Amino acid sequence: MPTPDLPVQTTHGDIDLSSRAFWAQSMEERDAAFAVLRRENPVPWSRPAESDLLPEDDNTRGFWSLTKHEDIRMASRHPEIFSSAGGITMEDFTPEMTEIAQSFIAMDAPRHTQLRGITMEAFKPKNMRRLEGWIRGHARDLVSEMASLGEGDFVKLVSIELPGRIFGSFFGLPPGEIHAKTIDAAQRLLSWPDPDVCGDQTGLELFAGSVLDLHETAAYLVPLRRDNPGDDLMTWLVQAEFEGEKMKDEEIAAFFVLLAVAANDTTRHASAQAIHAFSKYPEQRALLLEDVPGRVEGAVEEVLRWVYPLLHMRRTATRDITVRGSEIKAGDKVVLWYCSGNRDEEVFKDPFTFDILRSPNPHITFGGGGPHFCLGAALARTMLKALLTEVYTRIPDIRAPEPDFLVANFINGIKSLPATWTPERP
Ligand code: HEM
Repeated sequence: MPTPDLPVQTTHGDIDLSSRAFWAQSMEERDAAFAVLRRENPVPWSRPAESDLLPEDDNTRGFWSLTKHEDIRMASRHPEIFSSAGGITMEDFTPEMTEIAQSFIAMDAPRHTQLRGITMEAFKPKNMRRLEGWIRGHARDLVSEMASLGEGDFVKLVSIELPGRIFGSFFGLPPGEIHAKTIDAAQRLLSWPDPDVCGDQTGLELFAGSVLDLHETAAYLVPLRRDNPGDDLMTWLVQAEFEGEKMKDEEIAAFFVLLAVAANDTTRHASAQAIHAFSKYPEQRALLLEDVPGRVEGAVEEVLRWVYPLLHMRRTATRDITVRGSEIKAGDKVVLWYCSGNRDEEVFKDPFTFDILRSPNPHITFGGGGPHFCLGAALARTMLKALLTEVYTRIPDIRAPEPDFLVANFINGIKSLPATWTPERP
């Protein structure tokens, strides 16, 4: 029997992970709260998350939180106890919405293994090493386009554009309107808790609208690639077969939604947060500038630890299990807080210091290992390395001290990042 909704008002003391107000706080305030949880109550129970994704009467499920690095790794590596089926966010969606939007990230073996296998080859590190020069070329083009301006919103100029161009090319998206609409939808979808992004829509309307836009692109591309196969991932998807059966159109569309969002939004926020971090910690920027080629890979790892673009993933317990004294019941939701694991004092020396020379750096930004470990980790690392290299060799004095942060409990984002730099002379 799942844990009934216990009569708790907050997660612990005045910390309330379920409230939207908690996620509107600064990163420093949230990090400090997670430090208290790790110390005093590392596996706490929380009431149902405040949410407009379900009708109020249906939003009845509280959740457990794993805040320790070790526990997050343990849960990630035991999918037979911590299942991904049923959803991966602390807020619940209807099963129909999960099916059309989340694809294999919200599945367990054997179907998960089959679907993940289709594109796994494309994203392997050896392929990324092959593509490194091509990705670097895209980063160079973007920095060239902005270098003479001297000021602008880094998010619009670069953060959205780089993954957008790479993703468009991987999937064979035609340039122009379809490409722009697809990337825009992929960038909006995870912003449902932010009132500014939602405007006069509810969170659910924003989410569902983005999913439908992405399904429309898939509906255009699927028949196109069936009739005219190309050298792109959509062709792989329409041709993939399991025991003689091809994927249904709706399955391909959900797969496309997952990859579009996973590839675009995460990297966008990571690169914006990186530029902000180097503005906030100029001594770290100076360290990087002393030897960009020699230090950029360490800088990428520390940026990933520091900015944790995905705050959490959720699992559902398949059986009763006790973790650090907390009695998790079969059917309970369990949230893995990567943001907390990345600051765990038992794993990282001076975890609250941004230190690009940190070594070792066993961050869990791409997950804690196990079958769902980020498929695009090598691609994300390659994009960030290319971007930081181009930015800090071409416009090294770029400063962006005042971001407009996204209010969200799933993604650690930046909506806009006004930046200034000495313009490059033509
Ligand atoms: C900095 C950028 C990125 C971060 C922080 C990130 C983080 C993550 C995390 C935390 C997971 C879940 C791990 C787990 O549940 O154990 C994940 C899964 C995934 N990521 Fe990424 N990701 C990034 C970039 C990308 C890119 C560029 C792609 C492009 C292909 C991608 C594709 C995926 C996919 C398809 C999954 C689902 C894997 C599965 O369920 O088997 N990600 N990512």
